[in-house]
Amino acid sequence: MSNYYVTTSIPYVNGEPHLGHAMEFIMADVLARRARQQGEMVIFSIGTDEHGGKIAEKAAELKLTPKALADQMSARFSQLAQSLNISNDRFIRTTDAGHEQRAQLIWKALAKNIYKDKYVGWYCTGDEAFFSEAEVKANNGVCPSHNRPYEKVEEENCFFKLSAYNDQIKKAITSGDLLILPETRRNEILSTLKDGLTDISVSRPKQKIGWGIPVPGDPDQVMYVWFEALMNYITVLGYPEHADFKKFWPANVQVVGKDIIRFHAGIWPAMLMGLGLALPKMLYVHGFINVDNKKMSKSLGNYISPDDVIAKYGTDAFRYYFLRHIPSYNDGDFTWETFEAAYNNELANELGNAVQRTVVMAQKYQDGVIGDTPPPEHDIAQYEEALAVCHFDRALDEVWEQVRGLNQYIDEEKPWEIAKQGDTDHLREVLAYQVGSLLQIADLLEPFLPDTAAKIKAVFHEGLITPLTGTLFPKQESTATPEPAQ
Ligand code: MSP
Repeated sequence: MSNYYVTTSIPYVNGEPHLGHAMEFIMADVLARRARQQGEMVIFSIGTDEHGGKIAEKAAELKLTPKALADQMSARFSQLAQSLNISNDRFIRTTDAGHEQRAQLIWKALAKNIYKDKYVGWYCTGDEAFFSEAEVKANNGVCPSHNRPYEKVEEENCFFKLSAYNDQIKKAITSGDLLILPETRRNEILSTLKDGLTDISVSRPKQKIGWGIPVPGDPDQVMYVWFEALMNYITVLGYPEHADFKKFWPANVQVVGKDIIRFHAGIWPAMLMGLGLALPKMLYVHGFINVDNKKMSKSLGNYISPDDVIAKYGTDAFRYYFLRHIPSYNDGDFTWETFEAAYNNELANELGNAVQRTVVMAQKYQDGVIGDTPPPEHDIAQYEEALAVCHFDRALDEVWEQVRGLNQYIDEEKPWEIAKQGDTDHLREVLAYQVGSLLQIADLLEPFLPDTAAKIKAVFHEGLITPLTGTLFPKQESTATPEPAQ
């Protein structure tokens, strides 16, 4: 049995969880569940990123302390994980005492690569990121993602010697030691590395940003939030002394979104190299979810709460849509219409009916007794290959090939005709084949739709039918906003 460690990025607690956060949780959950199913020992960690100016600003706006806001919002992310049936083993908050103490240990271990200098440049609190003169000029002084002017910053900061690691990082990525998927993202970071990484500011003056972890031995400085947040991936395992850290680092897969790749494929590997630690084996970078083909945002009024979708369609339908209909290697779109179409056509009609027809026929013709089922026949190599490279959409396509194949088999075999002819042996074979196929489908679905998989297995448990209460995916009324009257 080997060890498997998978992480998501840790969302900021300045706002409510959205569809993007939900998708990231689900993708990592599939990897964790699949690894457990394969008999691996798994640690799956998620959490929240709670320090920095962005949180402090939002808290001030709401007349809360940053910690009170963080407590409130971190609980919302934790609830979302529960509603999505996320099987995380850990939930780290960067305000946990353990994280704060271990972050200081990490800082000290990296101190040989840290020096004090004056930073003159620009900062966007929305991104919690520093920007160069050229970047700011290209955007006419206004951050396009946050629609606010960059702040001019001139301050005494601690700098991390990122530039020293440029070549080593490039080598790790090109050799595949650090596998970045998809390839487009890998190329993107390689082109950044071609230009060369520059040293980065890793602290902020305490008088400007009070809400952060103090820099050891420098009471006037707090750690730059990104530098500290990245450390969560090892503090959560108990770096440096805990057995979990020794057993589970390096991570097998780190799941992040496309906007934070340079932190994870540039700064984070350099920090690990500075600590003398191995790099994660894989960085999987997902795209962005748009709503009705527009960037999702509260100000555009197209914000959709994951809770609303789950309340109407259930957890597994939510997981299904974001794993199959948002391309794993690209941006994707959510609309109520496409969601409903996938729900009705694929979950209710194709999967739901394959189960329902089999149950009904086994009850009608054999009093619910199925007997032995044949061993799985379907070749799952492509499913496995897809999962190995986080192509969740393709893995589900493969499962659906089998679901459709099964419905076609039923249509062609016509068990109702075999029953009419009274060929009971052949009928028993056909129904046993159907059940065997559904049990294999349930196994393949387990990492994706854990509840549905468990229900299918329960229905056919030990060769006897135990009917479901209700249907797997009951038909739903449309939620789409009606077209305005002409
Ligand atoms: N706090 C940092 C991460 C620190 S990790 C050490 C952060 N937080 S975030 O809340 O802004 O984003 C969390 C994750 O959600 C990121 O992986 C980000 O890419 C993802 N998404 C944010 N908006 C998204 C969409 N619209 N669609 C899909 N994912 C998106 O960055």
